[in-house]
Amino acid sequence: MLVAGKHLRTIGLGDDGWSVEIIDQTKLPFAFETVRLRTLEDAVRAIAAMQVRGAPLIGATAAYGVCLALRADASGDALDRACETLMATRPTAVNLGWALDEMAAAVRNLPQGARADAAYARAAAIADEDVAICRAIGGNGLSLIRAVAEEKGDNGPVNILTHCNAGWLATVDYGTALAPIYMAHDAGIPVHVWVDETRPRNQGARLTAWELAGHGVPHTVIVDSAGGHLMQRGKVDLCITGTDRTTGAGDVCNKIGTYLKALAAKDNGVPFYVALPGPTIDWTMSDGADIPIEERDPAEVSGIAGRAEDGSVARVDLMPDGSAAANYGFDITPARLITALITERGVCEASAVGLLSLYPERRG
Ligand code: MRU
Repeated sequence: MLVAGKHLRTIGLGDDGWSVEIIDQTKLPFAFETVRLRTLEDAVRAIAAMQVRGAPLIGATAAYGVCLALRADASGDALDRACETLMATRPTAVNLGWALDEMAAAVRNLPQGARADAAYARAAAIADEDVAICRAIGGNGLSLIRAVAEEKGDNGPVNILTHCNAGWLATVDYGTALAPIYMAHDAGIPVHVWVDETRPRNQGARLTAWELAGHGVPHTVIVDSAGGHLMQRGKVDLCITGTDRTTGAGDVCNKIGTYLKALAAKDNGVPFYVALPGPTIDWTMSDGADIPIEERDPAEVSGIAGRAEDGSVARVDLMPDGSAAANYGFDITPARLITALITERGVCEASAVGLLSLYPERRG
């Protein structure tokens, strides 16, 4: 996507050809800063501290983390250690484990001297595949938005509600949930996005709003609890969210609060779509209740960071000293609440039958 007129991806190699450059997403939207990852530890820190986040980008960063580890030590033990350490960074997004398995499979049987180069080649392919997948998701979701626009005719823009950030910042480029929105906008379809702020880390207010503004897409940030009201008033035509892990039966794990939007959508007859790349499907699971839900530092709930009037960025406390806070990162939206899944291979029912119709190689 474009940042100040320059086409950027969220991750790529630096000028030296081996270090890895990322956008430090903890600084957005108040500052645009890139960071160089030079060691496995840098990659681990970037994922754990959420300098990079979003399921597909976590996977791509982990892949490059393996490259950095093998560059320093290409032994089998080093490979195992790198995969274990990266795997422990965040538990919910399945793309992390998927990417690490892909990397291990690409290098394990090679002579040590060939492993680092092979790792860089596989990591680059994972990043390129993610871009192609997200572009295809965009095309498939575009048809859904176009159909609503045609039905609405001159009755205003297509109003789309999204939660968290599932735009290009959460992937290598284009995004998942936002890819169809960018394509609709670029195709001249009038769209307007309701952006859930997405407490506690505010990925909606900080990242989705920044992305949409950068691309010129009309949008409005709302508090997380406003979606139901807007749906009752007929101000939401459809919802599109991303997902961090979707079971083989179509249950969707996504940022905390997604389930409540799906309930409100069901009650109001608003279509609720989830956009996902194939690597976000966990074929080993059929019940969303089995997905590990990340519990993060309660300090993310008890305080908030923002820009003060003097331009400085500071964290302020929101709660009385001594009150407890709990910080569940994700929730499960059961398949029955989801109108359809938008994948790179097409749109399908949120069910095992639906997913297997698009990924027949997974049968049995
Ligand atoms: O905790 P995060 O920011 O890594 O959460 C991931 C997300 O951005 C969302 O849950 C998103 O909708 C799925 S990733 C495309």
